[in-house]
Amino acid sequence: MHYHIVTLFPEWFDSPLKTALFAKANQAGIVNVDFVNPRDYTLNKHNKVDDSPYGGGPGMVLMVQPILDAVKSIAKTGPLIALTPAGEPLTQKLAEELAEEEHLTLICGRYEGFDERLYDLLPIRRVSVGEAILNGGEVAALALIEATARLQDGYMGKNESGDDESYTQNLLEYPQYTRPENFMGLEVPKELQNGNHSEINAWRRKEALAMTLKHRPDLLSKARLSEKDREILNELRQNSFARNIHIALVHHPVLLKNNKAGSSSVTNLDIHDISRIACTYGVSSLQIVTPIEDQKMLVQELLDHWTKGDGAKTNPDRAKALSLARLADNLENACENVQKQCGKKPILIGTSAKAEKDKRGREKRLAEPFADIKRLAKENPLLIVLGTSHGLAPEALSACDFLLPPIRYMGHYNHLPVRSACAIILDRLLGDVD
Ligand SMILES: C[S@@+](CC[C@H](N)C(=O)[O-])C[C@H]1O[C@@H](n2cnc3c(N)ncnc32)[C@H](O)[C@@H]1O
Repeated sequence: MHYHIVTLFPEWFDSPLKTALFAKANQAGIVNVDFVNPRDYTLNKHNKVDDSPYGGGPGMVLMVQPILDAVKSIAKTGPLIALTPAGEPLTQKLAEELAEEEHLTLICGRYEGFDERLYDLLPIRRVSVGEAILNGGEVAALALIEATARLQDGYMGKNESGDDESYTQNLLEYPQYTRPENFMGLEVPKELQNGNHSEINAWRRKEALAMTLKHRPDLLSKARLSEKDREILNELRQNSFARNIHIALVHHPVLLKNNKAGSSSVTNLDIHDISRIACTYGVSSLQIVTPIEDQKMLVQELLDHWTKGDGAKTNPDRAKALSLARLADNLENACENVQKQCGKKPILIGTSAKAEKDKRGREKRLAEPFADIKRLAKENPLLIVLGTSHGLAPEALSACDFLLPPIRYMGHYNHLPVRSACAIILDRLLGDVD
């Protein structure tokens, strides 16, 4: 692989590329690097490569001409890559794709970045190494070089040492251990010590799945999973923080059409669908809250039919989902049910289609509320409180410890059915996709 680096600071690369495996691979002719400095291609007498931005503002912008001519001086460039925060993320998949090339040209920005017209003049692919701003593209280029160079034949001691690594199969790597066997009372897992390779492989696969589920569940949807993997994930999921989540479907007190607090009727559809949603995401219970006796009887009849009666016989999947449902007279009673089930009083998480306003009538913005709620769910049972009709009445909302932001997409219209809102909320908290 030939790397051509377009940079104002070639010296930046001195030590990293002359160290360890890269240096050896360079000597062995597996990789090589040359540098082109845009400063050598300036047409002005002070070798200026940057100028102030049109429209004003801080900093300087890299001029098109020196970079364009620097790139054009490279006889065989291969794909042109600009390192920029506005690029597609550097992933293992991208590294694998680029590693197939014979030449790569990496263009490093500095200051406020490139004049946009560079992209009009050259077929450049933009790559970013993360959602943080670096001072220049050199460190980003190094990351891309290392990720692609180590995939070249002969670069690593054993080529297969890359096969199991995090991201290679869209799974994070299993935990690794080395000597000593016991460090400060912490033992290396027994499964790794008995020399039984099929047991070791099974342990590693399970731990890779567990690591991914815990730290990067979004990767799982892209991973190639066997039936056995899915069984393992299902088991792990039951022990994951989803089990801390409970849902309350509240029919009283809710806002009615006249904007007054009152009771709504239970509906077959919501009970079925929210049970199915709850079961899909592995949550622990659905509390159906209504104080009205004949409504409770209706619900009980429905639950009996589907969990014990003929419905259960013809549709065991539905029985499984509806067996999550419990009746509660009010929110307090729903909390008691949860406490009975898991031994701890739940934290109440309110939901509303309307944004909370501050004293001046501006929408209150909560920082990363879904991430905060996720953190809470790791240690505590949570009861996510959903309102039927026109939403939870103020007294129900004020009984909640936290409030989730409304589900919406940019505009104002967000009249979602309660079961859709429930699915979206659970997916944001627990979903295994981006
Ligand atoms: C200070 S940054 C310019 C940031 C730019 N004004 C912006 O807000 O997007 C200077 C140069 O560092 C490089 N750089 C900074 N952060 C990067 C990242 N996350 N990934 C890739 N390159 C980055 C780019 O080459 C960029 O042109």
